Amino acid sequence: MNARRPLVIGNWKMNLDFVEALHLVQQLGVLLKNRPVEHTDVVVAAPFVDLRSVSSIIDSERFAIALGAQHVNSQENGPHTGEISTSMLKRLNVEWVLVGHSERRVHYFMSDEIVAETLRSVVRVGQHAVLCVGEELSIRESDQHEAFVAAQLKSALRGLDEKFHALVTVAYEPLWAIGTGVNATSAQVSEMTALLRTVLRSLSFTSPQVLYGGSVNAENAALLVRESDVDGFLVGGASLKAESFYAILQACDDCYAIKR
Ligand code: 13P
Repeated sequence: MNARRPLVIGNWKMNLDFVEALHLVQQLGVLLKNRPVEHTDVVVAAPFVDLRSVSSIIDSERFAIALGAQHVNSQENGPHTGEISTSMLKRLNVEWVLVGHSERRVHYFMSDEIVAETLRSVVRVGQHAVLCVGEELSIRESDQHEAFVAAQLKSALRGLDEKFHALVTVAYEPLWAIGTGVNATSAQVSEMTALLRTVLRSLSFTSPQVLYGGSVNAENAALLVRESDVDGFLVGGASLKAESFYAILQACDDCYAIKR
């Protein structure tokens, strides 16, 4: 890892009702109060229906946790039955929004165009967009992963005004590593974060922030963060337990403190 401030985001996906969510945030908040991670930014991306309660507890307990959403519609408020807008999220103190997670792209037909539109609508209201990119196994096996991911990144950033660059974080999440228990190796993560940074710099990003996601857990986080040039993690399964998520935060924090 480099000496940029790490960021770790817990993506709860479609897990935890609001009571369970409150319980988890309470536990995590207490762990962070007892042993703060001084150098690492912490975000939880909760299901829409949990946001209000999670936001209230973070606020009232003054937990050092920022709130994220997992998706948003790219349109303004209006006739979009069942959808949620950026302004609704903003009212709930949501500061971070995942954009183009592979589960949205694959299962809910989120096209590259919609990903780009969504990213622009998120940063336009001042929220941080976490743009997710990553290849399927077949693409990696045919050695097309670099070209594929670079194209995905460029497409998502098309039409984005430079003044919003600081609000964009990129998460490399290869589909074959998500929820499989098989994480990318440090070498694979390094190769892809280097590629993403090169593309971002070519698009005039001055200090690109790049995360890795895919079967990150309390056991592999320290090695991944030590041996690769990653700025932190986007964590699924291991973010559903306060202890395992906290261990990942600590691994990033320790590594940053050593390397700084
Ligand atoms: P897992 O950590 O469960 O593999 O999920 C990764 C992910 O998709 C985070 O967005």
